[in-house]
Parts: sequence; structure tokens; C-alpha cells
Amino acid sequence: MDKFVIHGGPKLNGQATISGAKNALLALMPATILAPGKFTLDNTPDLRDVKTMSQLLEIMGLGVSLTGKRLRIDSSTINKFEAPYEQVKKMRASIYVLGPLLARYGEARVSLPGGCAWGPRPVNFHIEGMKKLGAEINIEHGYIIAKANKLKGARISFDTPSVGATGNLLMAAVLAKGETFIENAAMEPEINQLAQFLKKMGAKINGIGTKRLSIEGVDELKPVNAATIPDRIEAGTFLVAGAITGGTVTLKNCIPDHMNAVLSKLEQAGCTINIEHSSITLKAPSTLEPVDVTTDVYPGFPTDMQAQWIALMCKAKGTSVITDSIFVDRFKHVPELNRLGAHVETEDNIAVVRGNGKLKGAKVMSTDLRASASLILAGLIADGTTEVLRVYHIDRGYESIEKKLQQLGAQIERVQTEEF
Ligand code: UD1
Repeated sequence: MDKFVIHGGPKLNGQATISGAKNALLALMPATILAPGKFTLDNTPDLRDVKTMSQLLEIMGLGVSLTGKRLRIDSSTINKFEAPYEQVKKMRASIYVLGPLLARYGEARVSLPGGCAWGPRPVNFHIEGMKKLGAEINIEHGYIIAKANKLKGARISFDTPSVGATGNLLMAAVLAKGETFIENAAMEPEINQLAQFLKKMGAKINGIGTKRLSIEGVDELKPVNAATIPDRIEAGTFLVAGAITGGTVTLKNCIPDHMNAVLSKLEQAGCTINIEHSSITLKAPSTLEPVDVTTDVYPGFPTDMQAQWIALMCKAKGTSVITDSIFVDRFKHVPELNRLGAHVETEDNIAVVRGNGKLKGAKVMSTDLRASASLILAGLIADGTTEVLRVYHIDRGYESIEKKLQQLGAQIERVQTEEF
């Protein structure tokens, strides 16, 4: 077990390079099930979730190997159509194998993900959507048991746009017979990359980047090569690191256009942002202004940046209100931030932050990926030493976060510990 030991204080200055997007790659990897052959995925980040998805594909019989940032997947042989509980409990995105397995092999046995660190996260849209495509689905012993002779095109409309369900149904529909319409689809860049990847494989998809996707099923797809898009959440987290410490940071390998909502809020907080092609430079103001945020589906402010924003607002002078409209109780970081001396109160999906810029180092505990990021950000400005325990959460989604922060001047170290 590792922990991070952080000595707060130094302003972060310099350059960091952003890695490939976890949430994009976790959809591209299972998409390889849809066509037999050899795929190459470049710009692959070294993350625990990528290892978990690799293991899951290997359990099913696919060949997976990582050399540097190049991931090779050989989907020529698949002999097990199952995502076991042991993998799904580590990573909910394992459910992404449901659509491709059903589409290509007509059967899938996928463990139900259950709850998560921040409350209920149902998968009813995935299940109802697969049923509309003609799959027979039963829930037995905690598993989704799905069968279909041949999926058939259908009209699917989500009550609310879901990233995972849009991706899963897209992967199912590309090999279905006839046309499928997905209304109120997610428009996240990671879903757009999946759709482009499937198109490159030979799928017929229209409306990419809009709320309405139409898919005309084809008989077969072919393997392709692609590079994972940059991680907009990692980039946002590092911009907040620059802003909270009062520094100037330049991030390379970004797609700034994917980050408009976050960049605009940082500007409202008083930061200066300069964009040059794929690099973003942030210069922090001497005093951060409090800025309210309501999370929303893309292109709104991402829920995956909510925890980091709360940490930033602890540094601002004044009161801000942060509302998470995507998840009901995603505030597990708040009691830990308060242990560092923050003044944050929550009710339902709203957090009120009374910022005063003063935090004091303490031992705190990671509860999930983005919560861990917010605790590290707070540790960067806390007086004295902050220890962040259970950093395996952060390794799920941030590649070498401590090395990138050290490069910017942070005093952060990974230390092995018996503490849990
Ligand atoms: C994905 C991201 C996660 C991000 C989230 C929201 C991946 C691997 N994970 O998660 O980092 O925080 O999008 O941007 O890409 N919902 C239902 N029924 C369903 C599915 C979803 O009610 O079957 C609800 C959820 O409870 C939530 C909302 O829809 O309120 C959006 O969730 P969704 O977009 O599906 O999140 P994930 O795909 O799980």
C-alpha cells in the first residue's frame, strides 16, 4: 500500500505533458471485440484501470501487450464471453464488454457493478437498451445474462444522457441488423472518439458529436490503429494545481477545445489562460475569486472536476456554491478536506465552500479517484505535512501524478506504508 506525503507551500511552475484519456481508452479497448485481428492503440497511459481492462480482455482470450505507450490487442481468438465479478468490482467500466460480446457472439455474462464509493450508479439504461435491440436479458446470481441470435436496430432514448450506456449501445448497434437511433446520447469527447474509432473499423454512424446518433448495422468490421485522445480531466486537475498554488503552468498535449467549461471557470476565478495549438498555459492571480459551478453533461462543467474545484475554492477568498447535477452524493472528499481545515458544508447535491485560503496539513484518506485528486491539491497549499492514504484510487486514473507534480516543483513523495 502506498501513501503520498506532501509538504505544502511551493508555487507550481513549469511544464507537464498530459497523458491519454482513461475514459476514452476504456471504451476503445472492448470495441476490439467487435472485429477479429490486430489493433494498435497509441498514447496509452500507464493506469491501473487500463491494466484491469487488459486483464479482463485476457480472461476472455484476447492477446494484450503494452510496449511503452503502444497497446496491442489481438482479438483473433475469444473463447469466454464473461466479465467476472472480480474484475467488475475493481472497475465499473468492465460493463463495456456487454455490447460488443452480444453484437459479435450473441451472448454475454457480465457481473452487475453494484454501488460505488459515491452512491448508487444503476445500469438500467444499458440493460433496457440491449433489450430494445432484441437481446433476452436475465439477472441471475448478480450477473447480467444476455443472449441474442442477431441484434436488431431500434429506437433508444435515454431519460438523461449516459456516457457508459451510449458507448455500450453504440458498440452493440454497429453489428445489428438495420438502423438504430440513440436519442439524448452523451456527447462527451470520449464517446465521440469511440464513434470515430468504430467508423474507422467500418461502422456506419451519423450524428457524431450530437445528441442524436444513427447507426446502420453492418455485417462485419475490421481491426484498425488509433491514438487515444488527451485526458481533459487530468489536464483540468493540473491547471487547478497551478491555480491553487499561485503558479504558472504549461500543459502539453491537450485538446483545449474539450475544456472550454473548465477554462472559462478558471478565468472567472481570475486566472489568465493562454492557448497555443495543443498547449495551455495558466497563470494564477494573486487572489482567487470564488466562482459557483454546476456540473453538467458535456459541454458543461464535468462532474469529474467537481472535487478538484471544491479544493480550489477553499483557496479563494469568499463563498462559492458547487452543485453536482450528475451524481447525487459525490462529496466523499468534503469531510477529508474539512480535516485539513476547509469550511465546506453539503446538503444533498450542493456544497457551500467558505474559502479563506488557509489549510493545515493532516492525514487524510482517499475514497475514490477524483476525491484523491482534490486531497492532493489541498495538500499542495496546506501548512506543514499532508499524508494522503489509499492512493491506489489515484493510480486508477492519473499516470505518475507525483512525478508530474514534482517536475512542476511540488514536494510530494510516494511512500510505502502498512497504514490502510
Ligand atoms: C462516465 C465516466 C465517469 C463520469 C461519468 C459522468 C467512464 C469510464 N466513466 O461514467 O468518469 O463521472 O461518465 O460524466 O467513462 N445513469 C442511470 N442509468 C444507467 C446509466 C446511468 O440512471 O444505466 C445515470 C447515472 O446514475 C448518472 C447519469 O446517468 O446520474 C450519468 O452517468 P453515466 O454518464 O452513465 O456515467 P458512467 O458512464 O458510469
